[in-house]
Amino acid sequence: MKETIDYIQNKIKTFKPKLGIILGSGLGDFADNIEGVRIKYSDIPGFETSTVAGHKGQLVFGEVFGKNTVIMQGRYHFYEGYHISRIVYPVKVMKKLGVDTLIITNAAGSVNKKYNAGDLMIITDHINLMGVNPLIGENDSSLGDRFPDMSEIYDHTLAALAQKKGKELGLSMRKGVYAAMSGPSYETPAEINMLRIVGADAVGMSTVPEALVANYCSMRVLGISCITNSAAGVHPSRLCHSEVVETAEKIKDSFMNLLMAVIENI
Ligand code: HPA
Repeated sequence: MKETIDYIQNKIKTFKPKLGIILGSGLGDFADNIEGVRIKYSDIPGFETSTVAGHKGQLVFGEVFGKNTVIMQGRYHFYEGYHISRIVYPVKVMKKLGVDTLIITNAAGSVNKKYNAGDLMIITDHINLMGVNPLIGENDSSLGDRFPDMSEIYDHTLAALAQKKGKELGLSMRKGVYAAMSGPSYETPAEINMLRIVGADAVGMSTVPEALVANYCSMRVLGISCITNSAAGVHPSRLCHSEVVETAEKIKDSFMNLLMAVIENI
């Protein structure tokens, strides 16, 4: 960790990020317009190299509406084969750099039958069905407790702000529970049925490890899912990654406008 922090600090000098953003599938462009320092994951000691198509794999440090921000342009997924501790490592690094608020975005399938592709869902809570907890292992007590509370991972005030700004922008806003599966296979219709029964509104393969660790580190968390498709069995058609990318691409501009409006008022 010390080596990671020293390497980054040497690049960003006195810049101290307060806001962190993790950009999901198809949303990476948001960081393209930000002026600042860019550091490739592959250059950072302790970081892995991201592999998913459509994810750039770099940290972008810069000001957004006067707020010192660090953006993860591309994230690590459990299904890529990394140890779960590597997936959440950047969140711990952000905390050590001074980040106290984290916005996490993702692409997700709708489990709730009322939700449609193109909706944006503010995450109110999550269900970890990845089969692994990112805090397993030795605890670094400088970051958080051994047995951290998870009764309010997603900050109510930030969620309300995002809802309000989304509505003002005329976007189709939803809120609900995000269930995380390991992937990389999409779910079966029976699994989606199970997710509905246990109370999920959307399903994806990310976000939960990062949100869990951010909460453990006492960060305020805002999670936003871009609903890219109906989950398996909701409409009897087959699922493909290109459909996910295509929808994400279509609502990218709305999503970016929402992000900007939230950051401006955070
Ligand atoms: N399932 C899991 N992950 C996803 C989906 C889905 O339907 N859509 C986008 N990410």
